[in-house]
Amino acid sequence: MNSPKLSDRTNSGLILENRLHLERLVSAEAPTPAEVNAGSDVVSGLTQNPKSLPPKYFYDDRGSTLFEMICQLPEYYLTRTETAILQERAGEIARLTGPCEIVELGSGSSTKTRILLDACSQLEYPLHYVPIDISPSILESSAHQLLADYPSLQIHGIVSTYELALAKLAPSHLPTRMLCFLGSTLGNLNPQECDIFFSQIVGALQPGEYFLLGIDLDKSQEILEPAYDDSQGVTAAFNLNMLRHLNRKFEGNFDLTQFEHLAFYDREECQIEMHLRSKLAQTVNLRSLDLTVEFAAGETIRSEISRKFNLNTLREELSRRGLRPVQVWTDPNQWFGLMLCQLTVDSW
Ligand code: AVI
Repeated sequence: MNSPKLSDRTNSGLILENRLHLERLVSAEAPTPAEVNAGSDVVSGLTQNPKSLPPKYFYDDRGSTLFEMICQLPEYYLTRTETAILQERAGEIARLTGPCEIVELGSGSSTKTRILLDACSQLEYPLHYVPIDISPSILESSAHQLLADYPSLQIHGIVSTYELALAKLAPSHLPTRMLCFLGSTLGNLNPQECDIFFSQIVGALQPGEYFLLGIDLDKSQEILEPAYDDSQGVTAAFNLNMLRHLNRKFEGNFDLTQFEHLAFYDREECQIEMHLRSKLAQTVNLRSLDLTVEFAAGETIRSEISRKFNLNTLREELSRRGLRPVQVWTDPNQWFGLMLCQLTVDSW
């Protein structure tokens, strides 16, 4: 696929061969409120007790590459288990929804979507895909690859946060729509954030439209902890990279050799917690935030929660919100769940 030419550009985005429309909802010229407040979440996280940081700071270019590597690790069963379920069930999903526009939140490299697109294409459905991702480079490169591989595919890519994209989603081009949220990213939201997220999903769907959700299920600590503390140290590098990212973004002086990766399962909360532990008493400055942070030896920053779900509890919660579970699939070990829900008429 050729690179788009300047003449292909329009005010609203980028149109390529009439099959690709890329839209950026976060404008570079006018900073969003989040951009104006850049770093306020870091200041509040590092000045409270216990300290924490938002997981979005994992994902600079290096962090995204490390996450792709995590997905291939033998201990990180999530990706391959969800992929296997999708491979087995994609045909069934496509038959249940009928021809539908596939919208994916946090599309990344769109690897799993290909399984759904293949199933739709086997049933000779028209192929419409709306990937939503915060990274323009990942979105553009995976869109070009998909267009090359699926000659009839139409893509409307949206560079945006989930929140903004869900609020501004245009009506579906096909009779129905399936909003996909895969990889158990739901687990990285705390219960409050999860609540808001579900309301945004309900607000973005029309009655009868679908929500496909991939979730990691509660299981033994012996399986969970190595998935977040692998033997090759990739997850440790991913966690520590957050500090490197902050150093670059906010003129910080975190010394990565003076922090260590920590991951444990909190059985009561049903969540993995990842922390960065200070090896000694130290002071860190983030110059552009005018912030000085003191660490005691052994003090930690919580960098992520990864909640693990119970299928029945989640099924009930989704039903309460008008997202009726149509079908739920798991793998033979019941390690991972895939739920297809449909927005009921009276919830709108
Ligand atoms: C993106 N998210 C679903 C991953 C998870 O499993 O919670 C992030 C991750 N953190 C460490 N390893 C993977």
